[in-house]
Amino acid sequence: MNRETVTVPLGARSYEVRIGQGLIASTATEISPLLPRPRVTVLTDENVAAVQLETLRAGLGDIKMSHLALPAGEATKSWSALEKTVEWMLDQKIERRDVLVAFGGGVIGDLGGFAAAVLRRGIRYVQIPTSLLAQVDSSVGGKTAINSVAGKNLIGAFHQPALVLADIGVLDTLTKRDFLAGYGEIVKYGLLGDAAFFDWLEENGPALAKGDAALRTYAVRRSVEMKADIVARDETEQGDRALLNLGHTFCHALEAATGYSDRLLHGEGVAIGCALAYEVSARLGFCSQEEPSRVRSHLKSMGMKTDLADIPGDLPDASKLVDLMGQDKKVVDGRLRFIMARAIGDAFVTDDVPGDVLISTLNDALRARI
Ligand code: GLY
Repeated sequence: MNRETVTVPLGARSYEVRIGQGLIASTATEISPLLPRPRVTVLTDENVAAVQLETLRAGLGDIKMSHLALPAGEATKSWSALEKTVEWMLDQKIERRDVLVAFGGGVIGDLGGFAAAVLRRGIRYVQIPTSLLAQVDSSVGGKTAINSVAGKNLIGAFHQPALVLADIGVLDTLTKRDFLAGYGEIVKYGLLGDAAFFDWLEENGPALAKGDAALRTYAVRRSVEMKADIVARDETEQGDRALLNLGHTFCHALEAATGYSDRLLHGEGVAIGCALAYEVSARLGFCSQEEPSRVRSHLKSMGMKTDLADIPGDLPDASKLVDLMGQDKKVVDGRLRFIMARAIGDAFVTDDVPGDVLISTLNDALRARI
């Protein structure tokens, strides 16, 4: 089995991200060293439970498992789901040294991580991400959260997992759309800091999307390595970690504008947001005009949403989209921070993006929809 391990080096809170085919089937071997007694509680969603829970149960062997399956979807990142989760864990007599397994995509990982952060002032948890997006981004780095009516992820904690098991085999169960949405985050890593990885994606992206497990393992590993490196430098996002938000300021505005509905998946918004970030960077003279064209052409060749024209339904005008960006967590002293690029593989953080350039870029992108 092609198996990779990336360590997230955070001193006493260091942990491994293990990546490979069939890891869920050997969960017992993977997590036993973490368990003071042979039992775990598993938080999952109803969709994942229907398709994958029995594989996990079998993989846990003699380790006793109880589970809570919540409705799938963003609405589950709520106060009421958090309450249900922690009360359920207390009901299960979870002790301080026991381990929670978050078995699902980003919603379950974020909610489970936050529940683990607050239960008995913090218990350990293991992430077993079942979406590509969760494998390459949300399961790694310890950001946990639920949503507020004021915005996404506004209530949460930094709480690192004790272990992450990224089973490449589960990616075979994803729809093409969900797979490509996760791939948007993979492209982001090449763009923000590794031009050679972006070259590799241009060459191998199509075969990887078709299902090549070795290519998928490499892409997940390289993404996780890059994330681990950034998180190790800046765990609580005082500086460099913001680079991981390349494309996200645009994405958050577009997600809000589309009502967090399936008109636009998060990873799709990230891909479109990356293309817009490169377009703005070129207009501001940070990078050459070839760079946004190359970004867009890779996304298009993968069959991904690339432009605002690819989002079905109406969108608000450019100034309303810029207002929606103002809700972003990256606002500092009232100024929006953007991730701009000098080239493919070379992103940087700046709060110096003139509003008129944003508006004209978005206006042109909106006009192209007609
Ligand atoms: N998803 C961005 C981060 O973990 O910082």
